[in-house]
Amino acid sequence: MTRIYVPRDSSALSLGAEKVAKAIAEHAARQNLAVEIIRNGSRGMFWLEPLVEVETPAGRIAYGPVDVADVPSLFAADFVNGGAHALKLGVTDELPWLKQQERLTFARVGITDPVSLTDYLAHDGYRGLQNALALQPAEIVQQVTDSGLRGRGGAAFPTGIKWKTVHDCKADQKYIVCNADEGDSGTYSDRMIMEGDPFVLIEGMTIAALAVGATQGYIYLRSEYPHALAVLNEAIQHAREKHYLGPNILGSGHAFELEVRRAAGAYVCGEETSLLESLEGKRGLVRFKPPLPAIEGLFGKPTVVNNVISFASVPIILDKGGAFYRDYGMGRSRGTLPIQLAGNIKHGGLVEKAFGVTLRQLLYDFGGGSATGRPIRAVQVGGPLGAYLPESQFDTPLDYEEFSKLWAVLGHGGIVAFDDTVDMAKMARYAFEFCAIESCGKCTPCRIGSTRGVEVMDKIMQGRDHAQNIALVRDLSDTMLNGSLCALGGMTPYPVLSAINHFPEDFGLNKKAQAA
Ligand SMILES: Cc1cc2nc3c(=O)[nH]c(=O)nc-3n(C[C@H](O)[C@H](O)[C@H](O)COP(=O)(O)O)c2cc1C
Ligand code: SF4
Repeated sequence: MTRIYVPRDSSALSLGAEKVAKAIAEHAARQNLAVEIIRNGSRGMFWLEPLVEVETPAGRIAYGPVDVADVPSLFAADFVNGGAHALKLGVTDELPWLKQQERLTFARVGITDPVSLTDYLAHDGYRGLQNALALQPAEIVQQVTDSGLRGRGGAAFPTGIKWKTVHDCKADQKYIVCNADEGDSGTYSDRMIMEGDPFVLIEGMTIAALAVGATQGYIYLRSEYPHALAVLNEAIQHAREKHYLGPNILGSGHAFELEVRRAAGAYVCGEETSLLESLEGKRGLVRFKPPLPAIEGLFGKPTVVNNVISFASVPIILDKGGAFYRDYGMGRSRGTLPIQLAGNIKHGGLVEKAFGVTLRQLLYDFGGGSATGRPIRAVQVGGPLGAYLPESQFDTPLDYEEFSKLWAVLGHGGIVAFDDTVDMAKMARYAFEFCAIESCGKCTPCRIGSTRGVEVMDKIMQGRDHAQNIALVRDLSDTMLNGSLCALGGMTPYPVLSAINHFPEDFGLNKKAQAA
């Protein structure tokens, strides 16, 4: 029986994977060929989706991008035995895009059947949990601290310290909350993990529960992710049936229940306190801090709130040890980061690399330059509130501190590329507009400042009172930066000011005068 892999990931589905899988099944049946079609996750090479792989003695052979119309010729070329065809790409694992990565968190994505617990176990799944069950809670926390893991949701706060705070709290109830709202532009690694390897998230959350003594967990899932919802629910059911979740995890006496909750569909609901309000059934308004969610979180109880990738990075840490993970990376940025290449880029997709890889390597070695073939002029890193970086900064290594030195952020690792046709004044205006639309309204700098920002940008773009209005944008940005309650208003100046500072000519300013 030949195994054929056709992804079920929403990126592949959007490019026709469902029809391709059906056509392959029909063709095989007509030719009386015994094939098993496995619906795997995406390998992350989106320009090759749907990427079909066949298992051969030489390894998995990739063909792509496959259209339904290609299926007859693939069979004619004996692709089920790795036959030659115009779409043949070779052994999947040898493709340079994959070979040059360090896939720790994404080790299984694209390889396994996401909803098969057996497959997960066969690929080292739940080894981290097995190890965790033999440890004291404080020892689990220590492993995570030793790994150097910092939150992958944006703020890069050390995960071990957050867990220790919850661990040290005395309470009758504690919670584990996964932030799966993934609202940043150009980001999709959370979705890819949830659709491509949901058990790794479930395992990571279960380990967190053991570490801090929580018995209930919630995944707050972006409302636009129906495929992730279905995959997660199916995986949770399998995990519960085999006692990886439930009242008595693997006979240990520990209880942990897990539920997926659909998010409210607002960007600000990804902010952790607003998320907690929303989970409690209220409007997604940001809470004042302190108290920290680790001390008074969901329903006022100590709560671990972590991003999907943060939790999904925990099983390998508990499997191979904190030191193993810590050996990857540079400076205080340890381990690997799943980087998402998007925007005007030839080869968009997911790259997992140790910290230290440069933007230029990502944009050109992996991304292949812009999709339009024109020079890449600007990249926005870290979502809609991230700074724009010009070409002169493309050699910056991905490292939280190196980015902060440039007044930029890594955020969730989303990189959006723009070619030289971009108008950076329009991008700056858009940043204010985005903030105005998504503001929760609780504080004045963000609620009013963003609307005023759009108006002032309009005046600048019309050339009205130019110098005064540029000064006004800077002043307004200063107020938003220092006076906002959360990072939505507080970081809107990043895209605005980086655009003005690095691309002054788009704002009718003299480049040399600005530099001076
Ligand atoms: C406006 C706003 C939106 C955010 N959206 C997300 C999000 O979609 N996903 C996420 O994990 N963190 C998001 N964050 C960061 C969270 O507040 C929080 O720092 C994170 O969930 C903590 O998890 P981590 O330590 O694992 O990164 C957002 C923050 C702000 C201010
Ligand atoms: S900065 Fe904006 S989103 Fe954040 S609390 Fe203030 S109004 Fe709400």
